[in-house]
Amino acid sequence: MLADSYGRVATDLRVSLTDRCNLRCTYCMPPEGLDWLPGPAQLTDDELLRLLAIAVGRLGITEVRFTGGEPLLRRGLTGIVARTAALRPRPEISLTTNGIGLSRLAGPLRQAGLDRINVSLDTLDRSTFVTLSKRDRLPEVLAGLEAAAAAGLSPVKVNAVLMRGINDREAPRLLRFCLERGYEMRFIEQMPLDAQHGWRREDMITADEILTILSAEFTLIPDDPGKRGSAPAESFLIDGGPARVGVIGSVTRPFCAACDRVRRTADGQVRNCLFAREESDLRTPLRAGASDEEIAERWRQAVARKLPGHGINDPGFLQPARPMSAIGG
Ligand code: 5AD
Ligand code: SF4
Repeated sequence: MLADSYGRVATDLRVSLTDRCNLRCTYCMPPEGLDWLPGPAQLTDDELLRLLAIAVGRLGITEVRFTGGEPLLRRGLTGIVARTAALRPRPEISLTTNGIGLSRLAGPLRQAGLDRINVSLDTLDRSTFVTLSKRDRLPEVLAGLEAAAAAGLSPVKVNAVLMRGINDREAPRLLRFCLERGYEMRFIEQMPLDAQHGWRREDMITADEILTILSAEFTLIPDDPGKRGSAPAESFLIDGGPARVGVIGSVTRPFCAACDRVRRTADGQVRNCLFAREESDLRTPLRAGASDEEIAERWRQAVARKLPGHGINDPGFLQPARPMSAIGG
């Protein structure tokens, strides 16, 4: 098991497959992009699968989520998913994507064993999309969403980050769009994870504000709070239900005490938290011929050191050295 000293057990592994991305969302990256990891720094498919086999076979991981950067840019993604689905015990397999390329890949990914998908969609307005992501690719995202639903990757979850003065007013429209199509919408507070360190607390649309904005057009009732478990989203019934909307208040309503996640960067480092300042290197022992049990033991020791919380609200908070795109969302 991957247990820490606060009694939490990590069962949900998030694996970044690449730090590259074809968008430049302002809350994530500067417009010019970043210095991507050099090819040899990244784990190969075989290395990746070996770590996954150790995670599910020896460490109690039951859920694997592939992230990026943009995971659809990883060559051989469907093969990686298929090999993950062949592991025993078979983990639940999910993917977080910006949706570009999904119209082509949704079917093959589903066939390969992908169980669930989260697509980021911050706006339905083409010019706002360009403002937010510096690329004119909204139609591809929308086509990707449709393809995901058609492929049976249901329920499709849609994530939005609201940015003050840019897309905050659009929240009810986004929610309506998702309700009409049976997608599960979740709004996420902007976290201090952008590479250019532009996050300001005053600019963040808080969970409270998100609820106020939505309440202008919908009646929201908190869903059974006992159900939140380790899920970061607080769930609200819309107009009496059964449809729901999720609000992820990572900053103002942290859920660290129930966190069951551990992360692996594209270059094979274990991270206990998006905001961790420490990483544990699994790539070096992996390439030096360590046994499965040696790697598993390093991994256990890394998780044992997990801190109680992200510390964003502490006076001495420092942003992590690596941005979201390198860590995996
Ligand atoms: N704050 C909150 N969410 C973020 N994401 C990326 N950067 C941030 C941030 N700074 C979200 C994306 C996507 C997922 C990978 O994480 O919108 O849904
Ligand atoms: Fe790419 Fe996701 Fe970052 Fe946007 S948030 S630039 S889609 S990695």
